[in-house]
Amino acid sequence: MKKVSVVVIGFGDRAVAYTKYALNNPDRLEVVAAIDPNPFRRNLAKEMFGLKDEMLFSDMEDCLKLGKIADAVINGTMDELHIKTAIPFLKLGYDMLLEKPITNNKKDLLELKRVADEHGCKLMICHVLRYTPFYLKIKEIILSGEIGDIVGMETNEMVGVAHASASYIRGKWNNRKRCGSSMLLAKCCHDADLLCWFNAGKKPVKVSSFGGRHYFIEKNAPKGSGKRCLVDCEVENECPYSCKKLLIDNEYFAQYTFTSLNKNYEDITTEEKIQSLKTDNPMGICIYKTDADIVDRQAFIVEFDDGSIATHSMISGVARPGRNIHIIGTKGEIQGFLEDNKFVVRTYNPSNCLWNEREEVITNVAQGDGHSGGDSRLVNDFVNMESGLPRSVSATVIEDSINGHLLVFAADESLDNGGITVKIND
Ligand SMILES: NC(=O)c1ccc[n+]([C@@H]2O[C@H](COP(=O)([O-])OP(=O)(O)OC[C@H]3O[C@@H](n4cnc5c(N)ncnc54)[C@H](O)[C@@H]3O)[C@@H](O)[C@H]2O)c1
Repeated sequence: MKKVSVVVIGFGDRAVAYTKYALNNPDRLEVVAAIDPNPFRRNLAKEMFGLKDEMLFSDMEDCLKLGKIADAVINGTMDELHIKTAIPFLKLGYDMLLEKPITNNKKDLLELKRVADEHGCKLMICHVLRYTPFYLKIKEIILSGEIGDIVGMETNEMVGVAHASASYIRGKWNNRKRCGSSMLLAKCCHDADLLCWFNAGKKPVKVSSFGGRHYFIEKNAPKGSGKRCLVDCEVENECPYSCKKLLIDNEYFAQYTFTSLNKNYEDITTEEKIQSLKTDNPMGICIYKTDADIVDRQAFIVEFDDGSIATHSMISGVARPGRNIHIIGTKGEIQGFLEDNKFVVRTYNPSNCLWNEREEVITNVAQGDGHSGGDSRLVNDFVNMESGLPRSVSATVIEDSINGHLLVFAADESLDNGGITVKIND
């Protein structure tokens, strides 16, 4: 079996999650170089993979100068950098595992696909939810024909308080201009992708979307609140969203929280965390007074070219996070909640004109592996693709991934224009 070699660009949180596969499967995947402007991250790559100093780059140009030194690139840079960092490697003929969102606009998306096609590169997108056992089982049931042709789908995503705070209110995806992504693109491109993947072969044709940002905004800040929870807030103790409760007492989303200290999380003392939250860490800012501008609620309704329809809604800042799904076909339906790891399948029962119901319980959920095991399954599929081996039904080639992104761009265009109906392929 061929061992696949990769250069990693952007050795951040996600790249570490994916490249752990190389540590667990050294005969299948090898990291040969890492590119990251941050010396702490380069050193982490060096320690994880025993890389020589000449294979660590602060600037991608120095790596590009060497020509093609591996089979593929794992691109884990932040959203806005995807297009800029992907194109030069594709032009050298590298295949690529690229984080979502692919790009943040339609023009760049089509350009990326054009360059990949022109240079014969395989480009796979990290739509990890396709690889979770829950959604994989749903896809298999759809493919089996048991529920017939899809007529309608409803999905909802609830983003929990801790995740919302660390990523979308105080975190690095909180501001559309700075991060380059809307909330729908950053969070729900997975859900849009699932809708298009379940309804494969059908194109989304028109969409309308509504939403806004109404809750964690300055006018709702409690009396006595300050600019920073641990500096000038008189109500910190009773505030449910105090950075101390989320990050010191409960340590939620540690990987996003103290990265600016450039230390392994386990080595950071409580005093250092508090000092960081009191001074320059955006996680220490009052949750009502950040510069976040992305929506905290959004819904869209979409029609596909065969007349099937789907709705999706996202609400951010809830108690119990999770994802609901309800797919209705011509012969039956599937309904479940991802975090319950089970769903029901109902089919019409002609003997009483009601329905038969059975429960599908997902038992093969990997503990301690990101996205219920989706992260390592995705890398495994990528390695299979590179090795010329058969791939799973989750396979995410660029053609399959484009429709979900086009749907998101059009939904955001609708939202930005008061909910008008936007045609997707115009
Ligand atoms: N698939 C998923 O479910 C999922 C989940 C979370 C994040 N993501 C996506 O993964 C991507 C990375 O997110 P993350 O949380 O790992 O980010 P991160 O900030 O932890 O990592 C990004 C890395 O890129 C480095 N970098 C910055 N400029 C660079 C440049 N010019 N060249 C090379 N490296 C550069 C940074 O120093 C950092 O180490 C984002 O696009 C994000 O939206 C996907």
